[in-house]
Amino acid sequence: MLLKDKVCLVTGAASGIGRAIALAYGRERAKVVVSDVNVAGGEETVELLRAMSDTNAVFVPADVSVASDCERLVARCVEVFGRLDVACNNAGIGGDLAPTADYPLDAWQRVIGVNLSGVFHCMKYELPELLKTGGSIVNVASILGSVGFANAPAYTAAKHGVVGLTKTAALEYSPRGVRINAVGPAFIHTPMIAGLEEDPATQALLVSRHPIGRIGDASEVAELVLWLNSSRASFCTGAYFPVDGGYLSL
Ligand code: NAI
Repeated sequence: MLLKDKVCLVTGAASGIGRAIALAYGRERAKVVVSDVNVAGGEETVELLRAMSDTNAVFVPADVSVASDCERLVARCVEVFGRLDVACNNAGIGGDLAPTADYPLDAWQRVIGVNLSGVFHCMKYELPELLKTGGSIVNVASILGSVGFANAPAYTAAKHGVVGLTKTAALEYSPRGVRINAVGPAFIHTPMIAGLEEDPATQALLVSRHPIGRIGDASEVAELVLWLNSSRASFCTGAYFPVDGGYLSL
């Protein structure tokens, strides 16, 4: 039980990778704060947690692109469970696909607002609580926090930004006992890429980019997040960990 009785917050936990992380926290007997803009999905994750292990879990709706929502989210977490030990800033959107010069301005603002500012907003309010508990943060970036991807300028810029933010915050807070890392998943079977997977040719192209010969599963990302959030990763901070089936080795 890697996180027994730890209070763990995960954003974007109504679906996909965030839900898998919430379930992994629950399996390790943590107290779980599930957050998302999707209320029905978030409440379903809480039901799954309670059914799985009688986990102490609560759903708190929040839009991570809105700073005051993130402030309220952390305050609610402390109100319910008295503290915050672990945070995984995972909420994200795919956004439009278009070359940089054609990229719509509103799509740029939306993707940066959720995928980059969202992580900043969460960290801004999580860090004061984590300083009290000596906790840890894992930010969900992407392989696109490390390499480019044609037609995804906003997503790629946001994910590179998440990696930079992670390293900077780690310099500031690791000396004070808070570890902060980022993970970089390659393509993972979740609703985010379901549209891409519908076309057999695109699906084959995506698979070919992963030397391991397949797309990943959300639970495979959750295992890394869980480990990084636990005391087993006590010497890891300020680092970016790919979980990518070899994608970045090509
Ligand atoms: P998903 O679409 O299954 O889940 C994303 C969740 O974030 C949804 O529940 C959604 O409601 C929530 N969300 C969206 N905007 C939000 C907002 N403004 N505030 C709060 N919650 C919001 O997608 P998936 O794949 O589980 O994505 C999770 C994270 O993993 C994202 O940051 C994504 O960029 C990242 N990622 C996903 C990859 C993939 O291939 N699926 C690859 C690399 C990174």
